Amino acid sequence: MIKKDREMGRPLKLGVNIDHVATLRQARGTVYPDPLEAAQICAKAGAVSLTIHLREDRRHIQDADVYALKKAAILPLNLEMANAPEIVGIALDVKPEEVCLVPEKRQELTTEGGLNVIAQFDALKETIERLQVNGSEVSLFVEPDEKILKASANTGVRVVELHTGSFCDATDPAHAKALLNKLIHGAECAHALGLQVNAGHGINLDNLPDVLTVPHLDTLNIGHSIVARAVFVGLETAVCEMIEAMSS
Ligand code: PXP
Repeated sequence: MIKKDREMGRPLKLGVNIDHVATLRQARGTVYPDPLEAAQICAKAGAVSLTIHLREDRRHIQDADVYALKKAAILPLNLEMANAPEIVGIALDVKPEEVCLVPEKRQELTTEGGLNVIAQFDALKETIERLQVNGSEVSLFVEPDEKILKASANTGVRVVELHTGSFCDATDPAHAKALLNKLIHGAECAHALGLQVNAGHGINLDNLPDVLTVPHLDTLNIGHSIVARAVFVGLETAVCEMIEAMSS
C-alpha cells in the first residue's frame, strides 16, 4: 500500500500497464510470458489496477488476454482502447471495471497524444454512455488543455487521464518545465471541473519526482519503464520500486 497521503488522506495509486509482457510473448509466438502471471505479481507488489491496450492491430494484448484477465479478477481491469466499433463491442462484452478511450494510429510506436474530444465529441459521448450503462467507469486520455478538459467533462465522464508523454520525453529543460506547468494547470482545471485526475505515459523513476508535483493525482498508469526494469530486477521488485518512489 502506498503510504503517501496526497489529498484528504488518499494515497496515490499505481496501475501497471502490462502490454509489454504480451509484446515479448508475441515477438516469438510463444505462450510465455503470460500477462496473467504478470497480473498476479503486480497485485502482490501492491498495484491497484491493471491497464491493457487492446489495439486494433493486436500487436501485443490479444482478445483472449482481455477475457482471461477479466475472468481471473486479480485486480480491476482498465481496458485502454480506441473508439472503434469492433473494440467497443469487446469492451461491452467483457465489462472491464474501467475503460480508457485513447486515439490510435496503426503506424505509431505507442499512443502519441490525447484525444481530440472537441472534434469527436458526439461519437465519444455515445460510446461513453454505452460503456457507462454497461457498468464500466470511462476515462478519456487527454492533453492538459482547458478546452479539451471542459469538453471531456461535458461528455459525462468522471475521470480523465492526462497525457504525460510529451513532458516525460522532453529533453530540453526549459521545454520540459513549460510542459510540466501545463500538466499542473491541466490537473487543477480537471479537478475544478469535478473530474478524477489520472496520469500516464512515459513515466519512469527519473521523471517521477517532477510528475509528483502535479496536484490532485489519483492514479498513475505506468508500463514500459516497469517492464523494462523488470528485465534486471524482476517484476515484483520493479513494481515495488515504483510504489516506493511514488510514496517518497
Ligand atoms: N496510459 C495510456 C493511456 C497509455 O496509452 C499508455 C501506453 O500504452 C500508458 C498509460 C502507459 O505508458 P508507458 O508504457 O509509457 O508507461
